[in-house]
Amino acid sequence: MYQELENLHKECFPNKPWSSKDFEDLKKSGCDIIASQNGFIIWRVVADEAEIITIGVRPEFRKSGIASAMLILVENDVKKRGGKKIFLEVAENNIPARKLYESNGYKQIGIRPHYYDNIDALLLEKEI
Ligand SMILES: CC(C)(COP(=O)(O)OP(=O)(O)OC[C@H]1O[C@@H](n2cnc3c(N)ncnc32)[C@H](O)[C@@H]1OP(=O)(O)O)[C@@H](O)C(=O)NCCC(=O)NCCS
Repeated sequence: MYQELENLHKECFPNKPWSSKDFEDLKKSGCDIIASQNGFIIWRVVADEAEIITIGVRPEFRKSGIASAMLILVENDVKKRGGKKIFLEVAENNIPARKLYESNGYKQIGIRPHYYDNIDALLLEKEI
């Protein structure tokens, strides 16, 4: 499974690939992972808050609702476990991801300057 995630991640983030060991460590640290042939999402629930660690969809399957569907699965899981809020960070210049989060009800609550090298990260939140 971790090797498949490594391959999937490389397709989604060619400039910053993660290794299968990175995924194994995330799992060991308490993260949850959903992965299919087309995409993956990783999140962590701590007390009544959750964080989306990352999400990706294979390029040829984008813009068909896969990421939105995965977000809904995660939101349902977080709700079931007593979570009230979901946080995430997105690069200011990542327009597809910003569009995804905006259309799924995530609101900007902060900014982390130069979070990704010289690019700002926007801190988003959704109350569920
Ligand atoms: C961001 C990403 C996960 C979106 O996946 P997706 O499956 O294409 O998203 P969806 O099909 O569910 O689209 C969700 C919304 O975003 C919009 N959207 C998606 N890609 C878009 C693009 N390139 N330009 C404009 N809008 C876009 C869709 O039209 C849709 O809007 P709607 O709900 O108003 O119809 C995908 O582009 C990806 O894997 N990117 C590379 C990895 C990445 O940047 N991950 C995010 C890290 S924070």
